[in-house]
Amino acid sequence: MPTVEIHGYAIVSDNDCIADEAGRTPDILRNDADWAYFQAELNRSAVTVLGRLGHEANPNPKGRLRMILSSSASGLERRADSWWWNPEALPWDQAICTVLPDGGRVAVPGGRRVFDLFLAIGYDAFHLTRAEGTLVPNGVTVFSGCREGVSAEAVLSERGLRADDRRILDPAGPVSLTIWRNGHRNS
Ligand SMILES: NC(=O)c1ccc[n+]([C@@H]2O[C@H](COP(=O)([O-])OP(=O)(O)OC[C@H]3O[C@@H](n4cnc5c(N)ncnc54)[C@H](OP(=O)(O)O)[C@@H]3O)[C@@H](O)[C@H]2O)c1
Repeated sequence: MPTVEIHGYAIVSDNDCIADEAGRTPDILRNDADWAYFQAELNRSAVTVLGRLGHEANPNPKGRLRMILSSSASGLERRADSWWWNPEALPWDQAICTVLPDGGRVAVPGGRRVFDLFLAIGYDAFHLTRAEGTLVPNGVTVFSGCREGVSAEAVLSERGLRADDRRILDPAGPVSLTIWRNGHRNS
Protein backbone atom coordinates (compact mmCIF):
# COMPACT_ATOMS: atom_id res chain seq x y z
CA MET A 1 0.00 0.00 0.00
CA PRO A 2 1.56 3.33 -1.04
CA THR A 3 1.72 6.08 1.59
CA VAL A 4 -1.02 8.60 0.92
CA GLU A 5 -2.16 11.63 2.91
CA ILE A 6 -5.83 12.53 2.60
CA HIS A 7 -6.69 16.23 2.96
CA GLY A 8 -10.28 17.55 2.87
CA TYR A 9 -11.14 21.16 1.93
CA ALA A 10 -14.41 23.02 2.52
CA ILE A 11 -15.65 26.56 3.00
CA VAL A 12 -18.75 26.64 5.17
CA SER A 13 -21.25 29.11 6.56
CA ASP A 14 -21.88 29.53 10.29
CA ASN A 15 -24.55 26.83 9.96
CA ASP A 16 -22.01 24.43 8.37
CA CYS A 17 -23.38 24.63 4.81
CA ILE A 18 -21.33 24.16 1.62
CA ALA A 19 -24.19 24.84 -0.81
CA ASP A 20 -27.66 26.38 -0.89
CA GLU A 21 -31.01 24.61 -0.92
CA ALA A 22 -30.70 24.07 -4.70
CA GLY A 23 -27.19 22.59 -4.39
CA ARG A 24 -25.40 25.66 -5.74
CA THR A 25 -22.54 27.53 -4.08
CA PRO A 26 -23.89 30.88 -2.85
CA ASP A 27 -21.80 34.02 -3.37
CA ILE A 28 -21.30 34.37 0.41
CA LEU A 29 -19.17 31.18 0.23
CA ARG A 30 -16.94 32.51 -2.56
CA ASN A 31 -13.83 34.23 -1.25
CA ASP A 32 -10.65 35.12 -3.14
CA ALA A 33 -8.30 34.42 -0.22
CA ASP A 34 -9.83 31.00 0.36
CA TRP A 35 -9.67 30.24 -3.37
CA ALA A 36 -5.98 31.20 -3.49
CA TYR A 37 -5.27 29.00 -0.45
CA PHE A 38 -7.18 26.09 -2.02
CA GLN A 39 -5.39 26.43 -5.37
CA ALA A 40 -1.98 26.46 -3.64
CA GLU A 41 -2.97 23.31 -1.76
CA LEU A 42 -4.06 21.62 -5.01
CA ASN A 43 -0.61 22.42 -6.43
CA ARG A 44 0.88 20.36 -3.56
CA SER A 45 -1.43 17.42 -4.22
CA ALA A 46 -0.93 14.43 -6.49
CA VAL A 47 -4.64 13.88 -7.20
CA THR A 48 -7.96 15.68 -6.60
CA VAL A 49 -10.87 13.38 -5.65
CA LEU A 50 -14.30 14.94 -6.25
CA GLY A 51 -17.94 14.20 -7.04
CA ARG A 52 -19.16 14.12 -10.64
CA LEU A 53 -21.17 17.36 -10.33
CA GLY A 54 -18.20 19.26 -8.95
CA HIS A 55 -16.06 17.89 -11.77
CA GLU A 56 -18.57 18.98 -14.41
CA ALA A 57 -19.00 22.42 -12.85
CA ASN A 58 -15.30 23.21 -12.44
CA PRO A 59 -13.05 23.25 -15.50
CA ASN A 60 -9.53 21.89 -15.05
CA PRO A 61 -7.34 24.35 -16.99
CA LYS A 62 -4.14 23.21 -15.28
CA GLY A 63 -4.86 19.60 -16.26
CA ARG A 64 -4.47 18.36 -12.68
CA LEU A 65 -5.00 14.65 -12.13
CA ARG A 66 -8.60 14.03 -11.05
CA MET A 67 -10.44 11.03 -9.67
CA ILE A 68 -14.20 11.45 -10.15
CA LEU A 69 -16.73 9.62 -7.99
CA SER A 70 -19.70 8.29 -9.93
CA SER A 71 -22.09 5.36 -9.76
CA SER A 72 -21.61 5.14 -13.55
CA ALA A 73 -18.05 3.79 -13.14
CA SER A 74 -17.59 0.04 -13.05
CA GLY A 75 -14.91 0.09 -10.36
CA LEU A 76 -11.99 2.25 -11.48
CA GLU A 77 -11.88 3.39 -15.10
CA ARG A 78 -9.39 5.53 -16.97
CA ARG A 79 -11.46 7.82 -19.19
CA ALA A 80 -10.13 10.52 -21.53
CA ASP A 81 -10.32 13.28 -18.91
CA SER A 82 -9.59 11.52 -15.59
CA TRP A 83 -9.90 8.42 -13.44
CA TRP A 84 -13.54 7.57 -12.63
CA TRP A 85 -14.24 5.58 -9.47
CA ASN A 86 -17.30 3.90 -7.96
CA PRO A 87 -16.56 3.17 -4.29
CA GLU A 88 -19.40 0.62 -4.20
CA ALA A 89 -17.55 -1.45 -6.78
CA LEU A 90 -13.91 -1.13 -5.68
CA PRO A 91 -12.50 -0.27 -2.23
CA TRP A 92 -10.43 2.88 -1.76
CA ASP A 93 -7.21 1.03 -0.90
CA GLN A 94 -7.27 -0.80 -4.21
CA ALA A 95 -8.33 2.23 -6.25
CA ILE A 96 -5.63 4.54 -4.90
CA CYS A 97 -2.89 1.90 -5.44
CA THR A 98 -3.63 2.14 -9.15
CA VAL A 99 -4.02 5.93 -9.29
CA LEU A 100 -0.99 6.77 -7.09
CA PRO A 101 1.31 3.72 -7.15
CA ASP A 102 4.09 5.80 -5.58
CA GLY A 103 1.79 7.45 -3.02
CA GLY A 104 1.36 11.18 -2.47
CA ARG A 105 -1.12 13.71 -1.26
CA VAL A 106 -4.84 13.40 -2.00
CA ALA A 107 -7.06 16.52 -2.05
CA VAL A 108 -10.79 16.01 -1.37
CA PRO A 109 -12.96 19.06 -2.19
CA GLY A 110 -16.38 17.40 -1.81
CA GLY A 111 -19.38 17.52 -2.14
CA ARG A 112 -21.16 16.17 0.87
CA ARG A 113 -21.34 12.47 -0.04
CA VAL A 114 -17.65 12.59 -0.88
CA PHE A 115 -16.84 14.33 2.42
CA ASP A 116 -18.90 11.67 4.25
CA LEU A 117 -17.16 8.82 2.45
CA PHE A 118 -13.72 10.08 3.43
CA LEU A 119 -14.81 10.55 7.05
CA ALA A 120 -15.14 6.76 7.06
CA ILE A 121 -11.91 6.16 5.11
CA GLY A 122 -10.07 8.63 7.37
CA TYR A 123 -8.75 12.14 6.83
CA ASP A 124 -5.17 12.98 7.73
CA ALA A 125 -6.24 16.62 7.76
CA PHE A 126 -9.39 18.63 7.09
CA HIS A 127 -8.95 22.27 6.08
CA LEU A 128 -12.13 23.92 7.35
CA THR A 129 -12.65 27.48 6.17
CA ARG A 130 -15.50 29.42 7.72
CA ALA A 131 -17.13 32.48 6.20
CA GLU A 132 -17.96 33.87 9.62
CA GLY A 133 -21.23 35.69 10.08
CA THR A 134 -22.95 33.94 7.15
CA LEU A 135 -26.01 31.70 7.13
CA VAL A 136 -27.38 29.56 4.28
CA PRO A 137 -31.03 28.75 5.04
CA ASN A 138 -31.93 25.07 4.38
CA GLY A 139 -28.56 24.54 2.73
CA VAL A 140 -26.45 21.42 2.17
CA THR A 141 -24.22 20.79 5.17
CA VAL A 142 -20.60 19.73 4.78
CA PHE A 143 -21.24 16.39 6.52
CA SER A 144 -24.58 14.63 6.77
CA GLY A 145 -23.96 14.36 10.51
CA CYS A 146 -24.20 18.16 10.89
CA ARG A 147 -27.55 19.15 12.27
CA GLU A 148 -28.96 21.27 15.08
CA GLY A 149 -26.34 21.24 17.81
CA VAL A 150 -23.81 19.12 15.86
CA SER A 151 -21.26 21.29 14.11
CA ALA A 152 -18.62 20.35 11.53
CA GLU A 153 -16.08 20.76 14.34
CA ALA A 154 -17.96 18.24 16.48
CA VAL A 155 -18.08 15.73 13.59
CA LEU A 156 -14.32 16.07 13.01
CA SER A 157 -13.60 15.84 16.72
CA GLU A 158 -15.71 12.65 16.99
CA ARG A 159 -13.43 11.15 14.34
CA GLY A 160 -10.35 11.88 16.42
CA LEU A 161 -9.12 14.97 14.57
CA ARG A 162 -7.73 17.88 16.59
CA ALA A 163 -7.75 21.57 15.67
CA ASP A 164 -4.71 23.70 14.92
CA ASP A 165 -4.96 27.39 15.78
CA ARG A 166 -7.55 29.39 13.87
CA ARG A 167 -6.00 31.62 11.17
CA ILE A 168 -7.57 34.58 9.41
CA LEU A 169 -7.48 34.23 5.61
CA ASP A 170 -9.45 37.42 4.98
CA PRO A 171 -10.16 40.04 7.65
CA ALA A 172 -13.35 40.96 5.79
CA GLY A 173 -16.03 38.83 7.34
CA PRO A 174 -13.69 37.48 8.66
CA VAL A 175 -12.99 34.31 6.70
CA SER A 176 -11.03 31.98 8.95
CA LEU A 177 -9.21 28.68 8.47
CA THR A 178 -8.74 25.91 10.99
CA ILE A 179 -6.85 22.77 9.99
CA TRP A 180 -8.03 19.65 11.82
CA ARG A 181 -5.37 16.93 11.97
CA ASN A 182 -5.31 13.27 12.80
CA GLY A 183 -2.19 12.73 14.88
CA HIS A 184 -2.51 8.95 14.51
CA ARG A 185 -2.18 8.96 10.75
CA ASN A 186 0.80 9.84 8.59
CA SER A 187 0.25 13.54 7.90
N1 LIG B 1 -18.33 25.12 -0.02
C1 LIG B 1 -17.57 24.10 -0.37
O1 LIG B 1 -16.46 23.94 0.15
C2 LIG B 1 -18.04 23.13 -1.39
C3 LIG B 1 -17.37 21.92 -1.53
C4 LIG B 1 -17.85 21.03 -2.48
C5 LIG B 1 -18.95 21.33 -3.22
N2 LIG B 1 -19.57 22.51 -3.04
C6 LIG B 1 -20.77 22.84 -3.84
O2 LIG B 1 -21.70 21.80 -3.71
C7 LIG B 1 -22.31 21.58 -4.96
C8 LIG B 1 -21.89 20.22 -5.57
O3 LIG B 1 -21.84 19.27 -4.60
P1 LIG B 1 -22.81 18.03 -4.69
O4 LIG B 1 -22.73 17.31 -3.38
O5 LIG B 1 -24.14 18.49 -5.19
O6 LIG B 1 -22.17 17.18 -5.87
P2 LIG B 1 -20.81 16.39 -6.06
O7 LIG B 1 -20.38 15.69 -4.79
O8 LIG B 1 -19.82 17.26 -6.72
O9 LIG B 1 -21.31 15.30 -7.10
C9 LIG B 1 -22.34 14.38 -6.73
C10 LIG B 1 -22.19 13.19 -7.63
O10 LIG B 1 -20.95 12.54 -7.33
C11 LIG B 1 -21.12 11.13 -7.39
N3 LIG B 1 -20.86 10.60 -6.07
C12 LIG B 1 -20.65 11.27 -4.90
N4 LIG B 1 -20.43 10.43 -3.92
C13 LIG B 1 -20.49 9.18 -4.45
C14 LIG B 1 -20.35 7.88 -3.90
N5 LIG B 1 -20.09 7.67 -2.61
N6 LIG B 1 -20.50 6.83 -4.73
C15 LIG B 1 -20.75 7.00 -6.07
N7 LIG B 1 -20.89 8.22 -6.64
C16 LIG B 1 -20.76 9.28 -5.81
C17 LIG B 1 -22.53 10.88 -7.89
O11 LIG B 1 -22.43 10.88 -9.31
P3 LIG B 1 -23.41 9.99 -10.27
O12 LIG B 1 -24.70 10.73 -10.28
O13 LIG B 1 -22.69 9.99 -11.58
O14 LIG B 1 -23.51 8.65 -9.62
C18 LIG B 1 -23.26 12.12 -7.40
O15 LIG B 1 -24.42 12.42 -8.14
C19 LIG B 1 -21.83 22.65 -5.89
O16 LIG B 1 -22.61 23.79 -5.76
C20 LIG B 1 -20.47 22.89 -5.30
O17 LIG B 1 -19.92 24.12 -5.70
C21 LIG B 1 -19.15 23.42 -2.15
